[in-house]
Amino acid sequence: MVYRGLIGWFLLTAAVVVFSCRKEPALPKEAATYGTTPINPKSIFPEKYGMPALPSDNPLTEEGVYLGRMLFYDPVLSIDSTISCASCHAQEHAFADPNRYSTGVFGLTTNRNAPPLYNLAYSRVFFWDARQKTLRELVLEPIQAHNEMALTLPLLKKRLSAIPRYQQWFRKAFGSEPDVFNMTLAMEQFLLTLVSKDAKFTKMWPGNFDLLTAQELDGLRLYNGLVDVNPLTGALSGGADCFHCHGSVFAQANNPNFGGIANNGLDAVITDKGFGGITGRSSDIGTFKTPSLLNVGLTAPYMHDGRFTTLDEVINHYSDQIKYASPNLNPQIKVHGPKQRLLSPSEKAALKAFLLTMSDTVFVNNPAYKNPFL
Ligand code: HEC
Ligand code: HEC
Repeated sequence: MVYRGLIGWFLLTAAVVVFSCRKEPALPKEAATYGTTPINPKSIFPEKYGMPALPSDNPLTEEGVYLGRMLFYDPVLSIDSTISCASCHAQEHAFADPNRYSTGVFGLTTNRNAPPLYNLAYSRVFFWDARQKTLRELVLEPIQAHNEMALTLPLLKKRLSAIPRYQQWFRKAFGSEPDVFNMTLAMEQFLLTLVSKDAKFTKMWPGNFDLLTAQELDGLRLYNGLVDVNPLTGALSGGADCFHCHGSVFAQANNPNFGGIANNGLDAVITDKGFGGITGRSSDIGTFKTPSLLNVGLTAPYMHDGRFTTLDEVINHYSDQIKYASPNLNPQIKVHGPKQRLLSPSEKAALKAFLLTMSDTVFVNNPAYKNPFL
């Protein structure tokens, strides 16, 4: 134990030495030209989505969003200056991590899969176990988590205050010196502007089906179709019923009655309590935030623990492997038991083809979200 602690201490010292030799990235070119520029939310959120409930005490400005974007990409937010938010949330994967578990400082890993980041302005709970309600409070978690960025807040303030770029941009965005609270506001602003709206699925919504191929249309019917239960044999047919939980233009139903937070039958024996670990209620054990399926073709691996590597494995789960004995299994799924839906190979292929229409290549290439230091 003592031995381990010593090694850790050595690593820490070594890392701090490396950090102090690192050069700051050059000042971004735009820096000189920014003023105090409010952003009209209508220019960010498409009419089809409706206007989200934005925090009234943190209006979006070009300066605030740009400051948040710099912070998102800056490894100075981690103790050894090796890990930024973007280390685990990569734009080409819709800001998810292609690894099952993410690697933070000192090679430590997270115990859940890093989800994608988009359309967060429309979400009322964050993290797989729904433990956070605001983005500004959320950002303090990864910064301080020992296995993610492991920085203390006083050290964070000290570091930001010593960097001219941040002295300048905190002044431009908030008229203040660098401080932790305004840092959380800037990050909140940047995260709110991550909007995915250009997938074929989104363009199709709610009814422009001529954009879909025949196979994708079959997949849509399965996705939105109810499962039929044969009253005599219990055999399942008809649709695959994804829409009850992954419905709406966001492919996520935030209505708690319909799987806003749900158990989708992954395990008969629960190891990660999910939402139940937060509320302490036995009726919440094994339930998780229902993810949006927009960009699902880009965000592998899947589920809170990244257990499925491919969409085929996900579809096999819902088709062939529902654990009806799972505690708190969502009624929407439980009602079909005890038989499995058993989709045919062509039905599985169609469902997958439809899921792939949700990928938004405009979003993952949007220059407004790219690393400003490159
Ligand atoms: C070491 C990897 C790692 C780093 C660094 C990291 N994250 Fe995450 N992020 C995760 C993981 C893992 C989760 C899921 C954790 C959970 O649900 O318990 C997550 C979840 C989130 C979520 C919740 C999304 C949702 O839909 O519920 C947001 C937002 C987020 N991170 C933003 C950030 C920001 C901003 C930073 C930088 C300050 C950051 N993350 C740094 C790994 C990381
Ligand atoms: C009862 C609600 C419910 C139904 C019905 C449902 N899901 Fe899910 N889905 C969830 C929940 C909850 C999760 C997260 C579970 C976890 O990680 O523990 C999830 C996760 C997923 C994921 C992983 C996404 C990611 O980013 O990791 C995919 C893909 C998915 N579902 C596809 C489908 C498809 C396809 C169908 C229809 C065949 C379907 N779901 C039906 C609730 C549901």
